[in-house]
Amino acid sequence: MQLAPAEVEFFHANGYLAIPRITSDEEIARFSELYDRILADPRAFAVKFHGGGTLHQVMSPDLLYPELRETGCFRNGRALACQLLGIEESELDGFFTHMIYKPAGAGRDTPWHQDEAYWDNAAFLAHSLSVWMPLDPVTVESGCMQFVPGSHKGDVLPHRYQPGVQPLSLDGAVEPASAVACPLPAGGATFHHCRTLHYTGPNTSGVERRAWSLAFHAKPARRAAPVERPWLAGFLADTTKAALGS
Ligand code: NI
Repeated sequence: MQLAPAEVEFFHANGYLAIPRITSDEEIARFSELYDRILADPRAFAVKFHGGGTLHQVMSPDLLYPELRETGCFRNGRALACQLLGIEESELDGFFTHMIYKPAGAGRDTPWHQDEAYWDNAAFLAHSLSVWMPLDPVTVESGCMQFVPGSHKGDVLPHRYQPGVQPLSLDGAVEPASAVACPLPAGGATFHHCRTLHYTGPNTSGVERRAWSLAFHAKPARRAAPVERPWLAGFLADTTKAALGS
């Protein structure tokens, strides 16, 4: 699987890309069953963010279920991510996967953020992107991805953490008119750069929103000086505690 040159160009200009298909219907059906099993698995390292609904995340499910790395979703996601990063697969510096679940009619929003704001890599400027794949058709009402085109061209912006196991959010407002929503069929995918501003709304629809997200890292660049990310310490401490159930 390969992206067309115009798609690669679009990604570099805008910091995101949506494609209607990354795997087969057959795999989606199989994977949906596995996804439900993992969500219910008490051994999984999971965090539930509450607030106007639930946002249920399972971190690195592929550690418990390594067969996830054999799926077409993963293989195609990795191949296309490397194409967009401009590297060979052998040059990958690591990856991280997580499942992001919003129940039908009861999923909370994921506030505007840049993924790199979540990363404890203050000495480096990341060269990474994420592949986001829904197993259900996604709409604005069920929480499809929304992006601010071109926002990947700046550095990591200030974020804030509200104590009480909350997702991070951009410390500032995003003009709603500047956002582009990307509804997708099940089995489609979006790609976004690690500094692209993105958001998903609450799931107010009657359809559950099961998504799997894969972050792929190319070698980062060392910064001239490390940057402060004061929002991270509280977030990491609280979510780790919550995931471990203490
Ligand atoms: Ni994100």
